[in-house]
Formats: sequence, structure tokens, C-alpha cells
Amino acid sequence: MIEQDFLLYVKDLTKVFIIGGRFLGVKLVAVNKESFSLPLNKPEIFTIAGETGSGKTTLARMILGLIEPTSGEIYYKGEKITDLNYKKNRLKFMREVQPIFQNPFEAFNPLKRVDSYLFNTAINFGFAQNRQEAMEVIDRSLQAVGLSLKEIEKRYPHELSGGQLQRVSIARALITTPSLLVADEPVSMVDASLRMSIVNLFKDLKEKYGVSVLYITHDLTTAYYISDRIAIMYRGNIVEMGPVEKVMLKPLHPYTKLLIESVPEPDIDKRWQGEIKLSAQEVKEFSKLGCKFSDRCEDAKDICFKEEPKKIFVDDRWIMCHRYIS
Ligand SMILES: Nc1ncnc2c1ncn2[C@@H]1O[C@H](COP(=O)(O)OP(=O)(O)O)[C@@H](O)[C@H]1O
Ligand SMILES: [Mg+2]
Repeated sequence: MIEQDFLLYVKDLTKVFIIGGRFLGVKLVAVNKESFSLPLNKPEIFTIAGETGSGKTTLARMILGLIEPTSGEIYYKGEKITDLNYKKNRLKFMREVQPIFQNPFEAFNPLKRVDSYLFNTAINFGFAQNRQEAMEVIDRSLQAVGLSLKEIEKRYPHELSGGQLQRVSIARALITTPSLLVADEPVSMVDASLRMSIVNLFKDLKEKYGVSVLYITHDLTTAYYISDRIAIMYRGNIVEMGPVEKVMLKPLHPYTKLLIESVPEPDIDKRWQGEIKLSAQEVKEFSKLGCKFSDRCEDAKDICFKEEPKKIFVDDRWIMCHRYIS
């Protein structure tokens, strides 16, 4: 079976949100029948990049099991994790697939010492039997991210910088010797001057410990430096996916070209919180016929407004654009 050959295999994954009431609401297809995979025995940094609202977080949350897909399947090491049976027994998955969240200050309780999280992880997942053993395991993980237990012992979150705290959350994730980190905008809350050093850690972890990383970002600069492969998302679809040099140095999809030319700035205020209110225009774009990018595309043909393009393989990458379908 094909799914056995992959660390992660995402197939036709779809998430539809109903905005404004169960019966009269509008359907918003946040992720639209998307598929991709990460190889099993070859650690890789796979980046999903796109503007705010393109569906990146929804995709990550489905993979982590935090929200239910509307349809489609996810396999981890050949096992279908979207199965009910698998969900009941998620311990192995929770140990091997670790999330890294956007805001480290939200991931830690301000009233709890940060080392308590590390001790809990080491002991609860069975990586240490007692405090002494835990200290060794924790110190090793902290060393891997350029810190030490001495530096953070007895400290509270507000006593550390955003960059240090994000390193601590990566160290916490490493305690369980994961195969995959799912990092959703892990440096967007970190000082710009420190971003590169933190994303470089992912590269380090891949090379030294064989950890794969699903790196989710709207920041193409960091993506370029650390990724092996990249997928560009637009309105719920991966419109171009392939080796990072190919996609970023010789982009083919009109949206990838636009994105690379404009290199968008992070807009933290735009992040949704609680209830979502989309503008009429946004909802229209999500439910429009044909290629979702057609209204913004300078080369749109008739067919682009009518039919969703199929994915085709051109010059080493997958691309979803009528221009390349002969
Ligand atoms: N819980 C939700 N309810 C309704 N709509 C949502 C919800 N979560 C996300 N969305 C919508 O889905 C789309 C994709 O959002 P998201 O996955 O957060 O994108 P990104 O992470 O790329 O910014 C957005 O239009 C967003 O408003
Ligand atoms: Mg997001």
C-alpha cells in the first residue's frame, strides 16, 4: 500500500466551515481536497507558505487532530490517524508528532515555572523514571536548542525573551524524540533579528536527529533558507509544490510569482480570534467557480473562471494552473 511508504501522507483533505448558521450559512472551503506527503526514511523540512487566510493553520490543526476533517484521510507511518480506532490510542502519535505553536507566551502558563513543563513531559511520556533522570533528559534537549537547564531552572515565562521561550518549547517537543514537528508560524511572534537563528534550529535538528519538520509560514525568507520542499497555498489549495529552489527561483504559478515579488509582511492584527467574520468579498472568493486566483491573475483565460484546474507535473513540481495544461 502506498501510504506505508510515507512518514505523513495527506490525501484529499478538506475542511469546510459553515459561516453564519447551520442551515442558512455560507460554506467556506478552508482546505480544498489537498494532498501531499513526507518521505519515511529521509528527514525533510516541508514548508507550507501562503498569505493569512489561505488555510495553513486549518491544515495543521487537522494533522494534529485538533479539528476534524470534513473529508479526506491522513496517514502517519502507514496508519490512518483519521480512524476512530486510532484516535482512541493516540499516545504513540502524540509522542512522535509534536506541535510548536505561534505564541510561546500562550503555550506556557504565566504562573508556572517553565521547567515544570519539561519535567512533566519527560515523566508523563516515560522518558525518565525520576527527577535525576529527567534532569539529564531535559538538559540534553535544552542543549540541542542552545540552552541549558541551568539557564532556565526556576524561571517563569515572563523572565525569558520570546526567542528563549520558543527555544524552550522546541526543547520540550524534543524530549519525546519526535519524528515530526508541526510548527505553525513558530517565529512570527519572535523578534525579527532572532528569527533566522530559531528556524536554523529546525535544520540542525533535521541533520543531527533526523527530525522532519512541517514548517508553516507566511515568511518566504525563512522558508527559502531552511526548506527542502515548499507548497504554496492560496484559498485552500496548494497551487504549486516542489523543491524550494525550483519553486522560489523559477516560480511557474502566477500566484507564486506575485507572492515572491511582493514578499508580504506579517499582519498579526489580522489573525482571527473567536468568531470569524469574513467580508462578503472573501466569502465570494472561497466559493467562486474555477480557479480561485482567476480574479487576480493577469493571464486568466475564459476557462479559468469556469473550471477548477487539475494538478499537473511540470519541471519538477506540481502546479494547479490552466496555463500549463495543454
Ligand atoms: N473555526 C473557524 N470557523 C470558521 N472559519 C474559520 C475557522 N478557522 C478558520 N476559518 C477560516 O478559514 C480560512 C483559513 O484560515 P486559516 O487556516 O487560519 O488560514 P491561515 O493559517 O493560512 O491564515 C480563513 O478564511 C478563516 O477565516
Ligand atoms: Mg495561520
